[in-house]
Amino acid sequence: MAEALRLCTMFKSITHTLRGVSDAYLFGYFGNGKGEGLPLDAATKATVARLGFADAVKSALARTEATGDAMTLIETFGGKNGTRILLVGLGAKERFKADACRGIAAAAGRKLAAVKGSSLTVCLDGALASAKVDEADAGNAFGEGFGLLGWVCDEFRGKGSPEPKRVKLTLRSSTADFGSGVDRGLALATSTNFARTLSQTPPNIATTGYMADQARKMAKQVGLSCKVFEEGDLERERFEGLINVGKASENKPCMIRLEYVPKGGAKGRKPVVLIGKTMTYDSGGLSLKVNNGMVGMKRDKDGGCAVLGAMHAIATIIKPRVRVVALLAVAENSISDEAYRPDDVIRYRNGVTVEVTNTDAEGRLVLADALCWACEKENPASIIDLATLTGGVVVALGSTFCGMFCENDKLRGAIEAAACKSGERVWRLPMHAEYRDMMKSPVADILNSNPNRKAHPIQGAAFLSYFVDEKVPWCHLDIAGVHVSERNAGMWVDGPTGWGVRILSEFLDAQ
Ligand code: BES
Ligand code: MN
Ligand code: ZN
Repeated sequence: MAEALRLCTMFKSITHTLRGVSDAYLFGYFGNGKGEGLPLDAATKATVARLGFADAVKSALARTEATGDAMTLIETFGGKNGTRILLVGLGAKERFKADACRGIAAAAGRKLAAVKGSSLTVCLDGALASAKVDEADAGNAFGEGFGLLGWVCDEFRGKGSPEPKRVKLTLRSSTADFGSGVDRGLALATSTNFARTLSQTPPNIATTGYMADQARKMAKQVGLSCKVFEEGDLERERFEGLINVGKASENKPCMIRLEYVPKGGAKGRKPVVLIGKTMTYDSGGLSLKVNNGMVGMKRDKDGGCAVLGAMHAIATIIKPRVRVVALLAVAENSISDEAYRPDDVIRYRNGVTVEVTNTDAEGRLVLADALCWACEKENPASIIDLATLTGGVVVALGSTFCGMFCENDKLRGAIEAAACKSGERVWRLPMHAEYRDMMKSPVADILNSNPNRKAHPIQGAAFLSYFVDEKVPWCHLDIAGVHVSERNAGMWVDGPTGWGVRILSEFLDAQ
């Protein structure tokens, strides 16, 4: 925890405790939805009085800006020492849910960072009880929001930037139940921030070998097993997609396999397999990306980064009852005289042959290796893959929903439940025999990209389906729209979101 928190932060560090006195206090009040705040609930009112804040809070809530609208903050000072009091609007009580606490934490955190406040006691218990919202769930969302807001990656700044002045922040929870949630949420944020820092790391540093080193290091730290297939191993295991896509780069491709085994063993249960596209850079290859299409392609490894972050969370806090195997297909899509080319044909270990029509549709080629390996060798209960696969999914869904392909109702239901809990939204896109037919090749079995530009995200999923055993429940998540944020608002800053760490964690927590 300490290690990863050091990387991040709008604050120098975040510590959480239940005891002590703070220099700022946070209370919540509901609104009537018509721009008017409602009076405090009885329990919060009693707490406010006990702390000697009654007069200050009363006059603050009488101000016109005390609308009660969700996530609005008003500030006042009260008590003997002029303690900072933050009153946060919670919106309409009937509509209030635990996940609103992410935004509330972000609003309070941004305020504290701005004023260099060093401690905050969160007193939302009364409001939560009056809205019948579970305290641990709310605390979890609050911890996530605070921890995610705290991510800043300074490692790549140098002498040309001023030294940031940041405060060590102590967060205090007013109740043990809320506090247990905050601990979990902060830990999930730590795992997510690990993925975000990897995403942010530039491609001249985060090479294929660097990703393998990071995986080994993390695995050792948290007690996961880790095996990296490289060089001769790739031929032995017939990872033909990786070999071909990675050929042109001096940074050699590899397949990283991590495994979590629950304490006391998995009791004969099949493992969940998580797969991540980990393209340390996607130049497009010989089908070179044009104009500015290449900028940002250091983030083409974010599927793998999210899987690594999820494995970190699994080993440190989630500790599910099932075995979890992670496979990261790692390569750099580059150009040289040794590059794979449009017109090449690749024969996979499951016997399927692929005609390459576009070297920029490289993600599916390396994921295919991981999918057929998983089906053949891992005896999976289910497979979930995450990939920044297509620009088309960004056009279709923007950065609000991740594109989901899953034809198994039970698995899809579990993924959707995890999406609700984590706030990482998924939207189902269709699969159909007609899309699979679009991928047929006149030369080989299938091609990697149909030259007519129809239904790109679905083409990607249709291609992948040729490498998954029909009996295995499988979910493909195209994260190209959601892995990065361009906004600096709420709990996000401009940069990587670590999308996938929390939804995968919640999915496994429910297994
Ligand atoms: N990594 C890209 C997809 C991508 C695009 C991710 C924009 C994030 C932002 C992927 O490898 C790619 O190049 N996809 C092509 C597929 C096409 C050649 C079939 C695309 O989406 O244009
Ligand atoms: Mn590409
Ligand atoms: Zn790519």
